[in-house]
Order: sequence, then C-alpha cells, then structure tokens
Amino acid sequence: MRSFDYSPNPARVVFGSGTAKRVRDEVERLGHSRVLLLASPQLDVPAGQVSDVLGDLLVARFDGAAMHTPVEVTEQALDVLREHDADCVVAIGGGSTTGLAKALAVRTGVDQVILPTTYAGSEVTPVLGETEGGRKTTRSAPEILPETVIYDVDFTLGLPLNLSVTSGVNALAHAVEALYSPQANPIVDAMALDAISGIARALPRLREDPWNLDARGDLLRGAWLAGTCLGAVGMALHHKLCHTLGGSFDLPHAETHTVILPHAMAYNAPATRDVMARIAAALGVPDAPSGMYDLIVAAGGPTSLRELGMRETDLSRAAELATAKPYPNPRELTTEGIVALLDDAWHGRRPEAPTSDLTRLTEQVVESFSAAAGTRVATLLTDLVRHLHGFAIDNDLTEGEWMTAIDFLTRTGHITTDTRQEFILLSDTLGVSSVVDLMTNSRTPDTTPSAVLGPFYVEGPPPKAHGSDLAEGLPGLPLWADIKIIDTAGAPVAGAVVDVWQSNEDGFYDVQLPDFDGPVLRARFTTDDRGRFTFWSILPSEYPIPADGPVGQLLDAVGRHPFRAPHVHFMISAPGHQRLVTQLFVNGGAYLDSDTVFGVKDRLIVDFTPQDGPTPDGRELDVPWRLLDFTFRIAKN
Ligand code: BEZ
Ligand code: FE
Repeated sequence: MRSFDYSPNPARVVFGSGTAKRVRDEVERLGHSRVLLLASPQLDVPAGQVSDVLGDLLVARFDGAAMHTPVEVTEQALDVLREHDADCVVAIGGGSTTGLAKALAVRTGVDQVILPTTYAGSEVTPVLGETEGGRKTTRSAPEILPETVIYDVDFTLGLPLNLSVTSGVNALAHAVEALYSPQANPIVDAMALDAISGIARALPRLREDPWNLDARGDLLRGAWLAGTCLGAVGMALHHKLCHTLGGSFDLPHAETHTVILPHAMAYNAPATRDVMARIAAALGVPDAPSGMYDLIVAAGGPTSLRELGMRETDLSRAAELATAKPYPNPRELTTEGIVALLDDAWHGRRPEAPTSDLTRLTEQVVESFSAAAGTRVATLLTDLVRHLHGFAIDNDLTEGEWMTAIDFLTRTGHITTDTRQEFILLSDTLGVSSVVDLMTNSRTPDTTPSAVLGPFYVEGPPPKAHGSDLAEGLPGLPLWADIKIIDTAGAPVAGAVVDVWQSNEDGFYDVQLPDFDGPVLRARFTTDDRGRFTFWSILPSEYPIPADGPVGQLLDAVGRHPFRAPHVHFMISAPGHQRLVTQLFVNGGAYLDSDTVFGVKDRLIVDFTPQDGPTPDGRELDVPWRLLDFTFRIAKN
C-alpha cells in the first residue's frame, strides 16, 4: 500500500475558448472593483480585449514586467498600484507577467486573476522567484498563489510555434519529474500522466497547424496540470540542471528544458523503471527517454546545448555546479555521470536507453532465425525468445538468479531416468501440460474431457482378460469397474484398446517401487462388441507426486503441497477414432480443488459408489466394495 500526503492548491480555474469574456465576472466574484492590468506591448490586442471587458473596473495598466521578476520593476508597479488604490491585479501574459502579479500580491495581499498566454504553468504554483542586484531568490507562500486563472485557449493561438514547443516541453518536464518525486501521490500521478499524453498529442499537430484550436486546448490543459504538479511536489535532477545552465551560463529557460529533458530522463531511467514505463505508455512509445527526444524532433524543437550557444569547455564546470549540493533525485548523482549526460545533450545525441539496446538484442536473435522464416520451428523459437527476453527484462533478472535457474534445470535433467521424468513433472506442476492438453483436446466438446498423461505411464502394459484383477491381491478397498466406450453418436466402439493404470493404496505406482516384481495396477483391455470391459482393482487414494527432487523444492519454495486428487488413468485408442488420454477422479476425494498438476475437470469427477451387496461377477467379498460405472465418449477421426 502506498502512503502519501496531498495538499491541493486551491486556485479557481476557468478553462475554454473565449473565457476571457468572463474576466469582469471573475473580478467581481472576488469582491473587487479596482483593477490594475499587467500586460506587455506585444500583447496589446488581447490586453485591449480584456480592458474592454473590465470596463470601468480598470483603473490602471502596467506594461513593464521583465524576465526573472526584478525587484526594481516590482517597485515601479507597486507605485502604480498604490497610486490608483487598486484592489486586484489582472495579469495577461507568460511567466514574467505572472511573476510580477505574484510579487505584488505577496507585498500587498491583492488578489490575482491570471490570463496565461504561454504554457509556463507558474500561474498555479505558490512559488515566486525574484532577482535583486543580480541575485535570484525563491520563496513559497499561500498568498503567492493566484486566486483565479482564466485559461482562454484563443489567447494562445498567436504564440509562435517554436515558443509553443519549448514551453510545452518545459511543462512536460514538470510532469515527468513529478512522477518520480518522493512526494508523488495518486492525484499528482494522474494529473502528470494526463498532462504528458495531452501535450505529446498536441505538439506534432501544432507543427502541422499552429492554429489548431483542439491541439492548443490539449496543450494548455496539459500545461495547467503539469504546473499543478510543479506546485504540489518537489522536482529533481532535470530542474536543477536547467537552473544551473540558465543561472550560470545564461542559457534560455524553455529551450534548455527542451534539450535537457530526454537526457535527464535517460539518466534517471535505471532507477525509475516503473515511472518510465508509465511515461512511455502516455507518450505511446516503447521507451520514454528516446520517445521524448523523438517527440521534440517531430515538433521541431531544439535538441542540443551547442545550438543554444553553450561552450563545450563549460560542460564539466556545469556538472560540478549541478552536483555541488545534494538534493533528492531517484538515481545517485555522480559528476562523471552528469558530465556524460551533458555531453550527450551538448551534441544532441538521441538517448539510447538500456531498453533500446535490449530491444536490438532481441531483434538480432530473432533475425538469426530468418533463414527458416515461415517454418513452425522458426515461429516457435521467435516467440520463445521474445518471451524469455521479456521475462528477463521485466523482472530485472540478475546473473545469480539466472544461474540458479540453469542449475535447477541441470538437476532436473540429472534426476530424470527411464522411470522418473522430472521434466514432465515440472511441466505438469507449472500447468503447462494442462494448457497444451486443453488446447489439443478441447476442440471436441461432445467427448469425455482429456487429462494429462503424467509420468507413470509405461508403454505396452500387460493385456488382461475382462473381469481380471489389476491389484493382484494388493491391499485396498475393492473396486469393480464397468466401463463402456461409445462414439459421439452413441454407438459402442468395439475393439478399442484401453490402457488403465493407477497407484496403490499408499499412493505409489509400481515403477516407483523398485522391489516390486513386474507390472501391477496397470493393464491393457480390449472392448467387446458392446464397447465394454470390466475389471477388479482397488480404490485409488490421493498421493504426492515425487517431491524429493528439484520440482519438490520448487513447490516447497512457494508453499504448495505435492498432492494429486485420487484418480485412475485411461488411455483409449480405437481405429478410426481420436486417442483419448484421461483420468477419472473419485467424487469426494481429497485435493480435488487443489490438484498439484491442475488436472481435475468437473466432468471427470465421478462416483465410485459404495456397495455392500453381492458382487457383479459373484466374487466372494466380506468387506464393502465400490462401483465405478462409466461411459467414455470418443471422437471419430
Ligand atoms: C499422475 O497422475 O500419474 C501424475 C500426473 C502428473 C504429475 C505426476 C503424476
Ligand atoms: Fe496418477
């Protein structure tokens, strides 16, 4: 079970196309009537629309917001706010305008209504980064969080494609790092995955048509959700690297996020396999880091630090700075590791995650069967290799575990003799024999169901006359079997050869008892004209399969018992008919529900009815006996 804390950031969100028309209602909803509008000259048109809607609520406009929220600019805006006695700020723009609104709110307590025009996501976080005298400080407080965010998708239509891509990937980075944050929780996971799939779907569509309103909507919703994740949980390596590169090497913010993200993911992938698998699924690709890289290429985003203007000679200093102070990250941070990451990012190499190598390896092995392509053997080997490789990869199999498996199979081989088949036992206890049996024999529903052969069948059992005794005097409750063989039309099958074998009263087959002289409790009968034969035997009992070898150890390791439910085996062969290998289980016997080889089928559980009257063939018995009266139905060829 996963334990977690979750504190939602209580901002109101108004989302859609044309929602800017609701800005006056939203200001009034907050109980305010004197608005300072924060905008910029580039956004004159949407700012004009918002001014019109605000009407007489608008008391002033300030257009001077700048990157990194310099305190000098905040002070100028503060003067305007005070001069006009504003009680609310409405900010339209990207991260800089939102930053200024937050800086005013934290100083004066004014409420904020934000109309984002980029995919920054900062409008839903309670975090403010400011610069003073070239120094950047960051703080977090509830009053920094804007009260209302109006996402008007129409306002993002004009955002140039390159900015849309880089700020979209910036949002993706929030979602990715939220998923492996120590504070992650199911709510954040759901938002992050929805953000990733929404943004990943939107970016390539925007490249084709930057005015696609649906794609813009997906991107903006993704950015909002990713921003919410950013506000809710801590970030890791990716964000640290981007801040270092931006702060100390003056690289542009969103572009740096775009270049670094696939490489930070590749670095963390070995420690976050589950998360990467979920991201890959959200992206719709087999591998998350390379899939992220491909997405950025497809969207036309930058892929190398070189193209952002970084010098190659600065890489090792950047790595040192980024690893100087410890911070939470799923994978241990080493300077060499980060140098290698930055080197890949500087050259713009596509990350080759380990799974990519593994996929290639699997494909190489599959390719090695190509000379036999189309044959059954190549088909089976191909699928076997894919499953075996997948098994090793999915379980992160260690060399020690694989050697244990090889040793297990070696011992299985060594213990196998003419009379002890440990491989069949293994196949039986893993249910594989029953799977193959079901697939082979369930195609004739009108016939008696089949069941596994088991390891104790011996070719060529002694032929016996009808009515003879298989037990040959061995102790046990006498059993009279009256068996008929018919076809699916109900006609008796004469001349059918039926091999019967079973265990003794203690649960052993003759081949398990080396001191036993000759075959016993096994025989071959041939049906008469009415398709019938009879014999005496003893009531079979439950018995453990041989558990003194590797299969027994396997059962032990998982706390499974080794018992089979009591049964008698039959192998029925008749010219012109399909062979039937099956077993009849004693109704009421032990282990019917947990047979260790998964061989029991309801239609094979039959009455071995207690009797105490005279016997059918006049045999003198002074003890009760059992009657097995059963008709097998077999299919014609
Ligand atoms: C048997 O019924 O003889 C048997 C079947 C599978 C495994 C071991 C025994
Ligand atoms: Fe058996």
